[in-house]
Amino acid sequence: MLADGVQGLRWLVAPASLEAVHAFFPDPWHKSRHHKRRLVSPETCALVADRLRPGGLFRVATDWEDYALAMREVLDASSLTNIHDGWAPRFDERPMTKYEARGIAAGRAVYDLCYRR
Ligand SMILES: C[S@@+](CC[C@H](N)C(=O)[O-])C[C@H]1O[C@@H](n2cnc3c(N)ncnc32)[C@H](O)[C@@H]1O
Repeated sequence: MLADGVQGLRWLVAPASLEAVHAFFPDPWHKSRHHKRRLVSPETCALVADRLRPGGLFRVATDWEDYALAMREVLDASSLTNIHDGWAPRFDERPMTKYEARGIAAGRAVYDLCYRR
């Protein structure tokens, strides 16, 4: 479906209904003036937590270190629980997209996080 992910989650998805939510490289705007538009905010995390079934997983990944640290801070402060001791290993089922390949080619590390409801 082509839609704003947050609005789709809010209006089209029932509470406690999802096995997992994946947001991979969700930051097309990494400049600081765009930080307020970041997808992984306290509000979005609360919405994701509500739509996940108990035990469901929220996986995120980014190749921007400052966004990775910000996501971890927001997720740590949410009702979700980090299932790893810090960063998660790369999610095996994630296809290698041009965004991930471009980050790696530019010498950036990729940060994965995985939190459970
Ligand atoms: C850097 S690209 C990564 C695309 C893909 N997930 C990947 O891993 O290769 C970021 C994508 O997130 C999308 N995006 C950002 N915020 C969104 C939102 N609220 N709803 C839907 N898509 C969004 C953008 O349109 C863009 O396609």
